[in-house]
Amino acid sequence: MAIERTLSIIKPDATRRNLTGRINAKFEDAGLRIIAQKRLHLTKAQAGQFYAVHAERPFYDELCTFMASEPVVVQVLEGESAIAKNREVMGATNPANADDGTIRKEFALSVGENSVHGSDAPETAAVEIAFFFSGLELVG
Ligand code: CMP
Repeated sequence: MAIERTLSIIKPDATRRNLTGRINAKFEDAGLRIIAQKRLHLTKAQAGQFYAVHAERPFYDELCTFMASEPVVVQVLEGESAIAKNREVMGATNPANADDGTIRKEFALSVGENSVHGSDAPETAAVEIAFFFSGLELVG
């Protein structure tokens, strides 16, 4: 097992309900370290650029509008197998399918307003981290 870094976003449905601390506690309880974090209000264009891989999906416009609707908290999580571990802690994309104890089971409102985003592979983690952070901002 290797120490990895992954990009996490606490989404507008969660920041709006003041859940940042409770979500961060889930990460920390799972052994993930928050080594960078900032609160941003994305423009729709920035959200669209971040989610460009989904540009052809029917939910793309709705996704970008939602991600720009209120502030997000972007963060870098570090730990053993951090990418897979974060996906475990988040739970399934659709909260209806998420396991008990996961962030999405406890907090998500719907498949769109699902409280958190996490990178899905090492290559995407590197690209997504570089989208929001410079190397100087990562303090492991
Ligand atoms: P995320 O892990 O951030 O990656 C892409 C996002 O698209 C996903 O979480 C969901 O929030 C969103 N998404 C996926 N499927 C749908 C859908 N059917 N309707 C609306 N949003 C969706």
